[in-house]
Amino acid sequence: MENLDNSGLSRRALTRKRMSLRTALALPRYGLLHFLQLGARASRINPGTTSRMRPLHLFSCMLRDPSTTGALLPSSPFLAKAMAEASSGSGTVVELGAGTGAITRALLAKHGAPHLIAVEINPELALGLKKRFPELDVRQAPAQDVLAGLQTNKKLVVVSSLPFRSLPAEVSAELQASLVATLERHAGSWLVQFTYQPRKPFEAPVGFRWQHHGMVWRNVPPAGVWVLRRSDEQVFRGESRAVSRSLG
Ligand SMILES: C[S@@+](CC[C@H](N)C(=O)[O-])C[C@H]1O[C@@H](n2cnc3c(N)ncnc32)[C@H](O)[C@@H]1O
Repeated sequence: MENLDNSGLSRRALTRKRMSLRTALALPRYGLLHFLQLGARASRINPGTTSRMRPLHLFSCMLRDPSTTGALLPSSPFLAKAMAEASSGSGTVVELGAGTGAITRALLAKHGAPHLIAVEINPELALGLKKRFPELDVRQAPAQDVLAGLQTNKKLVVVSSLPFRSLPAEVSAELQASLVATLERHAGSWLVQFTYQPRKPFEAPVGFRWQHHGMVWRNVPPAGVWVLRRSDEQVFRGESRAVSRSLG
């Protein structure tokens, strides 16, 4: 039997109500701060490049090509951390839709440049990535072409910011097919994907299953982190553990 307060609400329901009010108040404040801080911090990380413009850069790409860009702001450091955490394990890491490099930075810190390939279709953004991370293998190409041409037998972790829900349906379907073929070719591999939607990034193909890795509230907009792997594959110790939880 739960304790009820004077209004008849249980303690758990009251806590939930307070939490959602706190989140609702914090998000707009965080959104503005995130935008301003990114500009300020970016110029400190990499002076001499176009880093001061990085948040605005994605914004202007979004205005020119919204369906391919899929985001107004770069991913927050909290989302980057959660994506990197879900990529833990051995093998080559391939980042798709690296954009301004917010997640790339966290992946580099976790895996090191020799184990990471960053893929970005937009030539301006790809050039920005090359300037920001000169040690990194950056490919300016469609993700599906890079995946088809991968010359490794090693396990892969594919970390994707591709905006499946905003891409034209046929492009989204082509990318999904190419991802699934890649995961099938490289046993023990998995995909880490975030989405702003309150559901899976896309329907799991036959023989695969999604696991909810967690929810990142400190991102604009808040994002769910998901892991896709073959249904018959186990999660080994030290690899991404797919547990549903709040990550920031
Ligand atoms: C949501 S944004 C990336 C956000 C990124 N995490 C950041 O913080 O900047 C998605 C990116 O995917 C790229 N993209 C879209 N379709 C692509 C494709 N077929 N191949 C490679 N990159 C693609 C877009 O150009 C865009 O930079």
